[in-house]
Amino acid sequence: MLKQLLRTKPIVEHSNSGLKKCLSAFDLALLGIGCAIGTGIFVLTGIAAATQSGPAVVLSFVFAGIASAFAALSYAELASSIGGSGSAYGYSYVAFGEFIAWLMGWILLLEYGVGAAAVANGWAGYFINTLANFNIFLPAALTKAPMLGGIINLPAFAIIWLLIVLLIIGVKESARFNNIIVIIKLSTIAIFIALAAAHLNSANWHPFMPFGWFSTLENGKTVGVLAGASLVFFAYFGFDAVSTAAEEAKNPQRDLPIGLLASLIFCTVIYIIVSALLTGIVPYTMLNVPSPVAFALSEIGYTWSSTLVSTGVIAGLITVLLVLLYGLTRILFAMSRDGLISPIFSEVNPDRQTPTKVILMCGMVVSSIAGFIPLGELAETVNIGTLASFIMVCVGVIVLRIRQPDLKRPFKNPWNPLIPVLGILSCGALISFLPNTTWIRFLVWIIIGIVVYFAYSMRKSKLHQS
Ligand code: ALA
Repeated sequence: MLKQLLRTKPIVEHSNSGLKKCLSAFDLALLGIGCAIGTGIFVLTGIAAATQSGPAVVLSFVFAGIASAFAALSYAELASSIGGSGSAYGYSYVAFGEFIAWLMGWILLLEYGVGAAAVANGWAGYFINTLANFNIFLPAALTKAPMLGGIINLPAFAIIWLLIVLLIIGVKESARFNNIIVIIKLSTIAIFIALAAAHLNSANWHPFMPFGWFSTLENGKTVGVLAGASLVFFAYFGFDAVSTAAEEAKNPQRDLPIGLLASLIFCTVIYIIVSALLTGIVPYTMLNVPSPVAFALSEIGYTWSSTLVSTGVIAGLITVLLVLLYGLTRILFAMSRDGLISPIFSEVNPDRQTPTKVILMCGMVVSSIAGFIPLGELAETVNIGTLASFIMVCVGVIVLRIRQPDLKRPFKNPWNPLIPVLGILSCGALISFLPNTTWIRFLVWIIIGIVVYFAYSMRKSKLHQS
């Protein structure tokens, strides 16, 4: 049995995958930026500043960015040597074998499913704010999850269904569509930076670190710059989508590492500037609202710019959502094709040429999560999954260097194993700053995954039957 759990997939040559190799390093970087910039910077910055980090949320972004950079370098090495569009799931199948690959896939499902629900919540905050600017008010009970005193977050629930319909019709992310939305998103950020820079009041940065580095309150809530880092880490989730485009890159060996690192560095710089300005124009205590960037602009007197920025955010978050929902169906598809979950998940509707059933199932689950659970809880659950997958990718680099020392590695990290070890340590540290409830949720998810593996996947695996 142990042999089966550890059985690895061979590395397959992807040169003839049939997909068009059309993406340049620049496209890849924009893909990463398009997937990463979203709810993290536009919403969670406010929550983290008001409740965990204070103005030092800037430092939280720096710490989360450093951990992501080590992981990005490890992703780059695996993406350039193993390739394939399965990302961490595919790499784990090659490096560790079936059982760990299963767990990785299972964690990715949590990450993408709950991640989409979290972004839908961020989207809803800006949508409700924009409606209010036009004097349209939804009943409060229909804009909040039950934990926050409402009945359902209806806009978050509805946006998921709208995108599910688009996915069923067959609308896929295209690089050109993504590039346009990225430009809208970056223009929105540029408007905010230009207006906010003129109203900076450095008195708002004092006290800089009101909650210290890290402490746990009596109610179990964690506060401080490091706890803030483990929350705003959500802003970095998504840049790894670059690695899933390995088969469509013109020159993956050179362009993937460039795309991954360029998008990461760019996002980090933007996050630092935006969070510094946001906490510099209004007191951090006021920022725990659903649309902090728009709110701060109206506080300093720019009501119409605030509406403009909200509209940009509403458009910008749609691509993040599409990528996450599409990614979710693609992971289910890959796991199903490998026999690890039911073949229903890889059935394609012959008329529409899209996996209609799986998309509908994803819609039901994700819209319910989005409608009934508040953003903060969702984001932390996603983060523990993302951090766990980053750690696995770092371990994968070390294991593969030992198991397959002669593998062709077009991008090779220097001073092996320094970078992956630093990645494991920094992502591990961020995981440890997450609240206990998040840990418990994650462990329950893993235990369910292990039960499903032994009850179903192990017997049905294609690798087992071949
Ligand atoms: N990083 C993405 C966001 O912040 C998922 O919305």
